[in-house]
Amino acid sequence: MPAKVYSDKDADLGVLKNKTLAVLGFGSQGHAHALNLKDSGLTVIIGLYEGSKSIAVAREKGFEVVPTAEAVKRADVIMVALPDTKQAAAYAKDIAPNLTKGKTLLFSHGFAIHFKTVVVPKNVNVIMVAPKGPGHIVRRQYTEGKGVPALIAVHQGGTAAKKVALAWAKGIGGTRAGVIETDFKEETETDLFGEQTVLCGGCTALVKAGYEVLVEAGYSPEMAYFECLHELKLIVDLMNEKGIAGMRFSISETAKWGDVSVGPKIIDASVKKRMQKALKEIQSGKFAKEWVAEYKGGYKKYNALLKADENHGIEKTGERLRGLMPWMPKRSIKGVQAAY
Ligand SMILES: NC(=O)c1ccc[n+]([C@@H]2O[C@H](COP(=O)([O-])OP(=O)(O)OC[C@H]3O[C@@H](n4cnc5c(N)ncnc54)[C@H](OP(=O)(O)O)[C@@H]3O)[C@@H](O)[C@H]2O)c1
Ligand SMILES: [Mg+2]
Repeated sequence: MPAKVYSDKDADLGVLKNKTLAVLGFGSQGHAHALNLKDSGLTVIIGLYEGSKSIAVAREKGFEVVPTAEAVKRADVIMVALPDTKQAAAYAKDIAPNLTKGKTLLFSHGFAIHFKTVVVPKNVNVIMVAPKGPGHIVRRQYTEGKGVPALIAVHQGGTAAKKVALAWAKGIGGTRAGVIETDFKEETETDLFGEQTVLCGGCTALVKAGYEVLVEAGYSPEMAYFECLHELKLIVDLMNEKGIAGMRFSISETAKWGDVSVGPKIIDASVKKRMQKALKEIQSGKFAKEWVAEYKGGYKKYNALLKADENHGIEKTGERLRGLMPWMPKRSIKGVQAAY
């Protein structure tokens, strides 16, 4: 049976009027939810730890910023917009001691609840509003009168909690695009699978491999960049707007023949097998366990892998070429929130 898709008319912002909403963290998701809710006429305070680089940014955007514990104490609905691995420690130190009956904790990814790094007393509502897109796009789409589709879920709190989730989804622009109800398990497992195998991991590995093959064969890095990275967005935009067949309507017959005859030889059955293995490791909790251990060990491998990719030739070539395109926002990967 097709899932019910909630739109603006199914959600009542009134549920959140006269309530204090707190957003803990002012990163990718946090800043987007906070700004969109504020622009939707709701009262939002920001909770941050002492010394956070985001305090000044949030104040500059017109928010009252208070210590994390105080934000929890003052608010009726509290969004945990902290990195997944840091939520357990913040929960123990600042959140749990200030939770009282009837408050609502809101997550935008189910990791901590599903893998039980955070366990919330039954008299506190636990819900999810998870936009299916990066925080900066959640903000940008909202300001353009559009919205990023979102998932909602209720872990604790029943119908009343669902109304809060729908209202929050409306406040951030999600119901403009469509909101689907799921549960924490399904959201967590599918979200991790998508980002690892297709959207982030699969995509960046594919782009880098294509770039390397061309450059190693003696073609210019600029050609390789345009071909394997820049043009990807143009193709994906068409898929996003019209589906795969719709995208194929716009490409040449030669491109279509290469697409259907060569593509499946590159991304072949062995890729699908490894995707299934990645899914199993998500479902069994192996991925979560290893990721929490990586965090506890000081993010050594994580930082090294990110650093190595920052030094990849495609980044230098890209920076130069994007610099020649005047419409490209001058975004640096450091201090991104400030730049948006
Ligand atoms: N990124 C996305 O687009 C996206 C998409 C869907 C779902 N999600 C989910 O959204 C959640 C947040 O992820 P994110 O990517 O938005 O995080 P992020 O960009 O890394 O931002 C985290 C924010 O939390 C702050 N912070 C860290 N520890 C804190 C504490 N103890 N108290 C208060 N603030 C603290 C950080 O402070 P500093 O600014 O000082 O570092 C930062 O502002 C995660 O559950 C994630 O899975 C993210
Ligand atoms: Mg995710």
